[in-house]
Amino acid sequence: MNILFICGPNLNLLGEREKEIYGEKSFEEINIILEKEAQKMGVNLEIFQSNHEGNIIDKIQESRGSVDGIIINPGAYTHYSLAIRDALKVVKAPIIEVHLSNIYSREEFRHHSVIAPVCWGQIAGLGYQGYILALQAFLMRGKNEP
Ligand code: DQA
Repeated sequence: MNILFICGPNLNLLGEREKEIYGEKSFEEINIILEKEAQKMGVNLEIFQSNHEGNIIDKIQESRGSVDGIIINPGAYTHYSLAIRDALKVVKAPIIEVHLSNIYSREEFRHHSVIAPVCWGQIAGLGYQGYILALQAFLMRGKNEP
């Protein structure tokens, strides 16, 4: 199973950025944990981070036909990038939107996701564990579990 994990703007600064909201772990530390988890699950995981909307769109377009699932944390693009939403809509594979923080308990402008309607599901507020749960969800889906 090939899973692409896409991280949007400012997520490269985890561990430094608003630690009380996003946690102590750095982006690199989280990636190491995810790579280990994916290996245990027998999943091929590609991790991609960009601070640029166009690069994220290019990556989504390139993944067409070659991935079995996408995990995306679009960062602030969650709340307004119709271009990322349109790109995801073209992908046939299921998509899970993940947020480290509970976007619904934060500022009102974070309560709305323009990405969620084109996703299979959404996980928010569980920290980096949400990414691991998303991997597990793809595995279970693959085995036709509900
Ligand atoms: C975030 C939530 C967004 O509102 C914010 O802009 C981020 C991170 C999260 O993971 O909780 O950059 O996507």
